[in-house]
Amino acid sequence: MADTSSNIITIDGPAGSGKSTISRALAGHFEYAYLDTGAMYRAVGLKASLTKTAPDSDEELALLLDNLDLQILPGDEDSKVILDQKDISLEIRSAEMGMMASKVSARPIVRKKLTELQQQMAQKGSVVAEGRDMGTVVFPQAKFKFYLDATPEERARRRTEQLREKGMAADYEDILSQIKQRDHDDSSRALAPLMPAQDATIVDSSNMTINEVIHFIAEKIKTIQHNR
Ligand code: DC
Repeated sequence: MADTSSNIITIDGPAGSGKSTISRALAGHFEYAYLDTGAMYRAVGLKASLTKTAPDSDEELALLLDNLDLQILPGDEDSKVILDQKDISLEIRSAEMGMMASKVSARPIVRKKLTELQQQMAQKGSVVAEGRDMGTVVFPQAKFKFYLDATPEERARRRTEQLREKGMAADYEDILSQIKQRDHDDSSRALAPLMPAQDATIVDSSNMTINEVIHFIAEKIKTIQHNR
C-alpha cells in the first residue's frame, strides 16, 4: 500500500467547532481535496429515514449499505452530496439529520463501510479529512492531526448563525441542547468515540477567529514538514 501518511491532514472535533470552514480553507491553501465524512454519515442517516430503515437493526442497515449509491463532490461552499442520483446537499444539513447521523454512526456496520470508503477516497490523492475519528481510526498514520474544540455555547451560536444564513429555521436553545446531546452520544459510543488522537494538536477556538485558527494550523503543518 502506498505511504499516504504525509499527504493527509486530519481535523476532528465536536459539532460546531469550525471543522468544515477550517478544513475547506486548509484544503484550498495546500491544494488538497476536502473529505467531509460527516456528510457521509448524514447521507446514511437521511437514507435510513427515507427508507424507514430502523437505525438499530443491523439487518436493515446492511441492506441499506449494500445499495448505497453515494458521491461526495466539491461544492461552492459545503460539499455536494449525491445520493441515489439526487442532490441532497441541503437536506442533510438540518439539525434533525445531524441527530440521525449521530444515531447511525454508532452502529459498527455503518462505521466499517464508511471507513472503507473514506480510506479508498484518500488513495486518490492528498486530503484534508474532517470528522470525529479521522486521526484515531480512519487515518492513524497521518502526520498532521488536529482536534478542534470550543465551548458548547460558542458552538451553538455558530451553528445557529450558519443555519440562518442558509435560510433554515434555527433556535439557539434547541441547538445548544442538541449539541450537548450529540457531544455526549458521539463521545460515549463504544466504537470510534469522539476524542483527540494521542498525537493530535488540540486547538481551542472559543476565543479565536477563523483566520487565526487557519493560520495557526497552517504554520504548525509547515513546522512539522520542516522538522522532518
Ligand atoms: O460533522 P457533522 O456534524 O456533519 O457529523 C454528523 C454526525 O456524524 C456526528 O454527530 C457524528 C457522525 N460522524 C461520525 O461519527 N464520524 C465521523 N467521522 C463524522 C461524523
